Amino acid sequence: MTVQELNTEFDVPDILFYNDSHGLVCAELSNAGSKAVIALHGAHLMSYVPKGQRDVLWMSGKSYFAAGKPIRGGIPVCWPWFGGHPSDPAMPSHGFARLAEWEVIAAGKHEGATFIELVLTPGLIPEKFRNGDFLVKLRVELGGKLSAALIIDNTDVGELAFSAALHSYFNISEIADIAVSGLDGKTFIDTLDDTLHVQKGDIGFTAETDLVYLDTEGACIIDDPGFGRRIRIAKCGSRSTVVWNPWKAKSVRMPDFGDEEYHSMVCVETTNAETDARILAPGESHTLQVIIESETQD
Ligand code: BG6
Repeated sequence: MTVQELNTEFDVPDILFYNDSHGLVCAELSNAGSKAVIALHGAHLMSYVPKGQRDVLWMSGKSYFAAGKPIRGGIPVCWPWFGGHPSDPAMPSHGFARLAEWEVIAAGKHEGATFIELVLTPGLIPEKFRNGDFLVKLRVELGGKLSAALIIDNTDVGELAFSAALHSYFNISEIADIAVSGLDGKTFIDTLDDTLHVQKGDIGFTAETDLVYLDTEGACIIDDPGFGRRIRIAKCGSRSTVVWNPWKAKSVRMPDFGDEEYHSMVCVETTNAETDARILAPGESHTLQVIIESETQD
């Protein structure tokens, strides 16, 4: 559908479909002075600006915005696998959901929030990725907070096994100055050397960080004194959390990531990863949800 057709079909106050400067079809959601932008490419949230604040989500200045390529920044939807494919190294990192063009199925207002729902079905992905039936939706709600819920329905006659992430990139003042709390006492896998540890206190950053925290259902907070704000990341349907910053050397290796951009971002990812991967019986459904809120400390 063209943006004109989308604006006619989903004629909702506070939602505008448009082509962005990269040619992506996007929807801008507004609510009481807050704004969020989602691209249909990957059902990818690219911006969340609470009223009077700077963007809570980080986007790379080097991102691709092209068919079949993932967007760098925002909230990539990683599904049906997180990280490398479980058995086929030729498959793309973090699944095919973030590479596909999703379709809009609903948009409107609900209890004061502005919402949109996008859907992914096997018909929207290339043949090489098809392996059974599914119905996956991303429902985004913008009110006083931003919620993104990935709703996975197994519509196949066999089991649906997957891992997943709402791989959220946050916009911060300086990685060396922030702290992430909410994971004290939790066991984590350091994926850089595949070792197990237990978190003591808050997380600070002095080097490349790529950690999968296990048995985590509570909220995390990014305390950012430089921007004078605290970003709270709550979740449902997730018992694992990934914390990632590539630091310098990995930034240089990634073609779609600026060499110095690691200073201004941190990923705190709401996941179904490692021991938290899921298997749905036919007819079963699972929802992975992140709820983001940002408070300034003026
Ligand atoms: C993180 C992983 O979730 O995503 C990292 O823990 C990975 O290992 C990062 O480098 C980015 O992945 P990609 O595929 O978007 O470059």
